[in-house]
Parts: sequence; structure tokens; C-alpha cells
Amino acid sequence: MSPGRFITVEGIEGVGKSTQVAALARGLEARGLEVCVTREPGGTPLAERIRSLVLERGVEDLPPIAELLLMFAARAVHLGGLIEPALRAGRWVLCDRFTDATYAYQGGGRGLDPAAIASLEAWVQGARRPDLTLLLDLPVARALERARRRGTGTDRFESQRLEFFERVRRAYLERAAREPERIVVIDAAGAPEAVARAVARAIEERGWTS
Ligand SMILES: Nc1ncnc2c1ncn2[C@@H]1O[C@H](COP(=O)(O)OP(=O)(O)OP(=O)(O)O)[C@@H](O)[C@H]1O
Ligand SMILES: [Mg+2]
Repeated sequence: MSPGRFITVEGIEGVGKSTQVAALARGLEARGLEVCVTREPGGTPLAERIRSLVLERGVEDLPPIAELLLMFAARAVHLGGLIEPALRAGRWVLCDRFTDATYAYQGGGRGLDPAAIASLEAWVQGARRPDLTLLLDLPVARALERARRRGTGTDRFESQRLEFFERVRRAYLERAAREPERIVVIDAAGAPEAVARAVARAIEERGWTS
């Protein structure tokens, strides 16, 4: 059995993650690979309930530390209930956001200590890390404009100010600079098909599907 691969797609709201995850899943399935598409926070019924707690607006204040712990609580559920079993079965797991988002949002955005995030990461994930992370990058204003035009209403994150997303984007790019082997930065400015080609190239370069 060829090994499953764990691929995560990252970037601020509106860059086109969900669009590209769907396109990549179609491309991989067309090659006969078994693909499991999922997202964070969420991915299992219980983890999706935790997602609702984190994203709902106007309930009561959610302190950043509680937000961080809920992200990892959802992740522990997701890893045990879906990601690890899928990888063991040889499936390719495509995950719309994962732990890099925690460093970017709770670390860069909310200002929590990256060392605290790193210790939770080690505790919750053990040695599990994505095999490849595609960071879709776009200037904040353009990304938020795409998200706004989609018009699905704003959650707790989408209602943040521009500076918040600037910090998140910067934290993402800093992580990519520190882990260039794992994290590939993809220019998300082009048409969806052009971005999908760049995504497909990043996978080709790994030589996993040959
Ligand atoms: N390359 C692109 N060019 C123009 N519009 C795009 C492109 N990719 C996606 N879109 C559109 O922009 C909007 C946001 O895309 P999408 O939902 O895939 O982003 P996302 O990163 O998943 O956002 P979120 O973080 O809010 O889930 C959608 O309406 C989508 O159709
Ligand atoms: Mg999305």
C-alpha cells in the first residue's frame, strides 16, 4: 500500500482555500487516489461542535487562551477520529487549515506565546506534522474582498480589523520562511484555475504520484 499523505491548505480568510482544496481533491481522485477532505477546526461531529463554540459571535467573551485550548481540543478529536485512521488506511488527507493556522491566528493575531502553542502541538500531535502545507498568499484587502463578496456573513474571526489579518498573514509568511521544505507559498492572486495549476505543480515536485 502506498502511504497516505497529509496535506494542509492555509491562508487568511478569502484567499481561496476551500476552492483549492476541492479542486485538488478532484485532481487526486482522477488519478485513482483515495482522498479524505476535511477542515479545522472541525472534521468530525464533535470537533464541528467545538468549531461552532469558537466561531459563534456574541455569546460571551472567549479569552484567547480558551480559544487556543479549544482549537487543540478540536484537533485532538479530529486526529484520533479521522486524520490518523485515514492516513493509516493509505488515504490522502486534505485539510483546510491545521496547526499553522493556530500559530498565525492565536499566535500572530491574538499575541499568544508561540512556545505555548509549540508545547500543545507536541502534546496533542506527537510527531504528526503535515507532509506538505500550501500557503495561499494574497494581500489582506484582496482576500477580505473575496470573502466579503462571497457574503456568508461574518464569524468571530472575519469581524476582526485589518491589522489583525496583517499580523496573521505575516505570521504565516514567517513560518513559511522558517520551514521552506514543508510550506510552499502559492501566489493566490490569479484566477482559480491558475492557482490550481500552481498547487498541482507543488505536489508534482514531491514526486509522490509518479
Ligand atoms: N483565484 C480566485 N480568484 C477570484 N475569486 C476566487 C478565487 N478563489 C476563490 N475565489 C472566490 O473567493 C471567495 C472566497 O474563496 P474561498 O471560500 O475558497 O476562500 P477561503 O480561503 O476558503 O475562505 P475562508 O477562510 O473564509 O473559508 C469565494 O467566493 C470564491 O468563489
Ligand atoms: Mg473556506
